[in-house]
Amino acid sequence: MAIIINKPLDMHLHLRDGDMLKTVAPLSSKSFAGAIIMPNLVPPVTTREELVSYRDRIKSSIGDDTFTPYMTLFFKPTYTKEFLESIKDELTSIKLYPAGITTNSEGGVSGFNVEELRETLDAMSELEIPLSIHGETNGFVMDREAEFVSIYEMLATNFPKLTIIMEHITTKESVEALDRFNNLYATITLHHLMITLDDVAGGMLQPHLFCKPIAKRPEDREALRRVALDGHPKVMFGSDSAPHPQDAKESCGCAAGVFTSPIALQVLTQLFMENSTLEKLQDFVSNNAQKIYKNISVPKKSITLEKIPFTVPNRYGIVVPMYAGETLAYTITKIER
Ligand code: NCD
Ligand code: ZN
Repeated sequence: MAIIINKPLDMHLHLRDGDMLKTVAPLSSKSFAGAIIMPNLVPPVTTREELVSYRDRIKSSIGDDTFTPYMTLFFKPTYTKEFLESIKDELTSIKLYPAGITTNSEGGVSGFNVEELRETLDAMSELEIPLSIHGETNGFVMDREAEFVSIYEMLATNFPKLTIIMEHITTKESVEALDRFNNLYATITLHHLMITLDDVAGGMLQPHLFCKPIAKRPEDREALRRVALDGHPKVMFGSDSAPHPQDAKESCGCAAGVFTSPIALQVLTQLFMENSTLEKLQDFVSNNAQKIYKNISVPKKSITLEKIPFTVPNRYGIVVPMYAGETLAYTITKIER
């Protein structure tokens, strides 16, 4: 049986820059019609010039593939309404990182004082620019996301017209928050649907599964699966595929990030098939995102998958993908653009 996914979208993606960009961009542009591109370069993307030239470098890395990079800026509370008006048509969302919480986030926000954020967030509400958030405090690692829920609530209440995306949620607390506020939405990764902390650190340490936020408990994964497999209208697929060189992962001081772009649609198809919810896959990987992000237009592109074994390469360039060397049940057999 052939399975067709129309306009698949990855609503949270790290493409990096330079040689790494050239290696990983074609792997996303093969499977997806578009993706939200994270701004945590060194230095982060904070100006119109940086955003436009990064988009050009992405476009020149994907050859002839049909693929729209939806650009983001790295949130600064100093962005004025005039600045945002001038850049609005070039970007899809603004990504807020708490300072120092993950890879290249040192220039992020500390303290979450509403009054310090108000001017920028009011302007974003008015201009209908969504705010994407990496929601972790700097508390105990397993509690960081649950602790951040009160900050999501504070932002959702103070800025009721702002579209707030809780990025890469990993806990049942975040799932529960979704339905309490009209303006809260979420992305869910592939790896957080597949693994728990046991897979990362329960046996021999698995650096290629180490990421922020760290995978949590079985009941958290259950809560994520419930809403994803149900095609819950407030959740979207966002891979958070985050490539690092093999030597930065397999080292003392392992970098955080799981690389999933080349396997994402294949594994999602298998997961939805096994749970008899294939009819919801289209919502999870495209339709919901198009409704939540009203400011994107998605190129026509469809991906066909068939139940033919696909052995995942051990590496792509210097990056090791999730499930390296393992055989997956589904293969991409056709790409129509
Ligand atoms: C991401 C990265 O490497 O850029 N790492 C990760 O573990 N997910 C950053 C992020 O999204 O937190
Ligand atoms: Zn990320």
